[in-house]
Amino acid sequence: GLRKKEVNVLCLGLDNSGKSTIINQLKPANTQAQEIVPTIGFSIEKFKSSSLSFTVFDMSGQSRYRSLWEHYYKESHAIIFVIDSSDKLRMVVTKEELDTFLNHEDIRGKRIPVLFFANKMDLQDAMSSVKVSQMLCLENIKDKPWHICASNAVRGEGLQEGLDWLQDQIA
Ligand code: GTP
Repeated sequence: GLRKKEVNVLCLGLDNSGKSTIINQLKPANTQAQEIVPTIGFSIEKFKSSSLSFTVFDMSGQSRYRSLWEHYYKESHAIIFVIDSSDKLRMVVTKEELDTFLNHEDIRGKRIPVLFFANKMDLQDAMSSVKVSQMLCLENIKDKPWHICASNAVRGEGLQEGLDWLQDQIA
């Protein structure tokens, strides 16, 4: 049959935001990990959608590993940026990391799609995706297509909507 188009996706966001949990949910059931542990450095995962074959670089969000992120910007066709919607204290740090990413020479001015997951929407004190989007000033992003979805990665909710958007942007 037709070969699916190969795309590299970089998954970014602070530690504990839910990156690995999201990527794990997107993989076929028989290859999903039973237990998610904090990522050391990065991890490479693969999964397919109806028309695309994804290679995801799931980066560790721990501060000591965040300097690794930029080495993968050039080869990436799309970005998934994950936010813990309940982590109000670190929203400022998230914004700093996002702004550093958006202003990087390999990213700035490039029409690379960015999918935001306002994750952990199930938690009591989670902010809405609109509120998260306001706190991160996403409306200021003019040089690339972006989209934000509320998600619950543990139950897999909201993930398909995001992936459908990403697929439309790439296809
Ligand atoms: P690093 O590898 O350290 O960068 O973290 P990460 O962003 O990959 O986070 P990970 O997927 O390891 O998830 C961190 C914790 O949050 C785990 O205990 C997950 O079960 C939990 N978690 C992830 N998504 C959700 C969610 O939508 N809701 C809730 N309640 N917990 C979540």
